[in-house]
Amino acid sequence: MRKLNNMRLLIVFSLFILNLNTFGQFKTLPYIQIGESENLDKMVVMWHTDTEIKDFKIKYHISGNQSKTKEQWVSGKRLSVSGTTNRFIYEATLFDLIPGKLVTYEIWRGKTKVFSSEFKAQARKDEEVKMVVFGDVGTGTEIQRKIGNLVMKEQPQMVAISGDIVYNRGLVHEYDENFYPYNNAPEYPFMSRVPFFVAPGNHDLETRDLNKYNGALAYYYFWNQPLNGPDFKENSALHPELIGSDSLKKDFYAYTEKKYPVMSNYSFNYGDSFWLVLDSNPYVNWSDSTLIKWVKNEMEKAKDFTWKFVMFHHPGFNSSRAHYEQQQMRILSPLFEAGKVDVVFNGHVHNYQRTFPMNFLPYGTGSRIASSTNQTRGKVISGKWTLDKIYDGKTQLKPNGPIYIVTGAGGRELYDVDQTDDKDSWQPFTCQFYSVKHSFTSIIFNSKSLKIKQIDIDGNLVEEISIVKP
Ligand SMILES: [Fe+2]
Repeated sequence: MRKLNNMRLLIVFSLFILNLNTFGQFKTLPYIQIGESENLDKMVVMWHTDTEIKDFKIKYHISGNQSKTKEQWVSGKRLSVSGTTNRFIYEATLFDLIPGKLVTYEIWRGKTKVFSSEFKAQARKDEEVKMVVFGDVGTGTEIQRKIGNLVMKEQPQMVAISGDIVYNRGLVHEYDENFYPYNNAPEYPFMSRVPFFVAPGNHDLETRDLNKYNGALAYYYFWNQPLNGPDFKENSALHPELIGSDSLKKDFYAYTEKKYPVMSNYSFNYGDSFWLVLDSNPYVNWSDSTLIKWVKNEMEKAKDFTWKFVMFHHPGFNSSRAHYEQQQMRILSPLFEAGKVDVVFNGHVHNYQRTFPMNFLPYGTGSRIASSTNQTRGKVISGKWTLDKIYDGKTQLKPNGPIYIVTGAGGRELYDVDQTDDKDSWQPFTCQFYSVKHSFTSIIFNSKSLKIKQIDIDGNLVEEISIVKP
């Protein structure tokens, strides 16, 4: 028996040594991305190195599939960003994935296997799915490590980040310091097993001066998400101008290719859910007729799925004193209602809030709020809300209207802690407000019901609600 235990220890130790050698090759360990296709029939593995490696290849196998292991081509590009160290980003697309099946993959360098992991392909429509949603995360703190560990313990099939992926300016080196070590660390490369998808926050996309900030807009370098958003150019209702010298801009455009600027808005489906992810930064004019048409069209696509989720960073309905005036996304509420959206997930405000199910009629397109430098900070949009106070998520399970959830307590300092127990300070649409501890949202759905849990940093349940479909 003792001999057997020693043998086990030896095996574990050998694996550890192997891993150390293996991980030495990566600057960022392999991570799964949903890629450009909205149906997720193919997915992408990405990884970064600091020297150029020409002999990478990837092999993958779909469980239960009679076919042999497939080998896929790997493409690599040097990320040329002044002021940062060399970085080569590799990616490989794994095709013909089968919903519900496990995909195992191995990355090889010549004849040496340097990494292996597995992930679950797109879920079947009749399958139960668990996802985690949280925002305002990339802080590089112990709080983030603790929350990150709890998220891993949840064992979700996917993780959604509702913006402010990385502080403070969404720069390349900030991902290395504040994000990857907490979500894809060598001791447990979580993102190699579970795809993350993200909505851009103000800390991710508002810094767009390439002269001043080396490695700005890393969102477009490091994420690989569907390119089915509205295709507006810069200086439009959707995207402000990129600032920088001609050569820096040229490098940026050359690297990001068709991802910039279109990847800030997208949609995809997973199992029996449809996800619409939007850029809510105040430079976007969501009253623009072409954008409204696009959202309407997305809502049409959502009809094929039981669960319709929307995610963006700035909440339209927020009771915190912080960011209360940034209500610009309220303008889209009537479209979400018409599209029968179930839940809208936001971040930006560093706490947890949930509204009653609600319908909102905006009075006009709102009044602009300017910052001290005359930048648009947002819009105040007044209107009429109709609240469903019969739904309670426990016994009354059929809400009338979308529920808006702020889940921005993922790492950054909490906002307006005192408001948790001060119900008088809540807006009429707010049903729950929790800012005592950091927290994240875990959702589980099948084709009939959805369960939403808010879990705090100590692993305790803040609250749990359910929705059922007829
Ligand atoms: Fe934010």
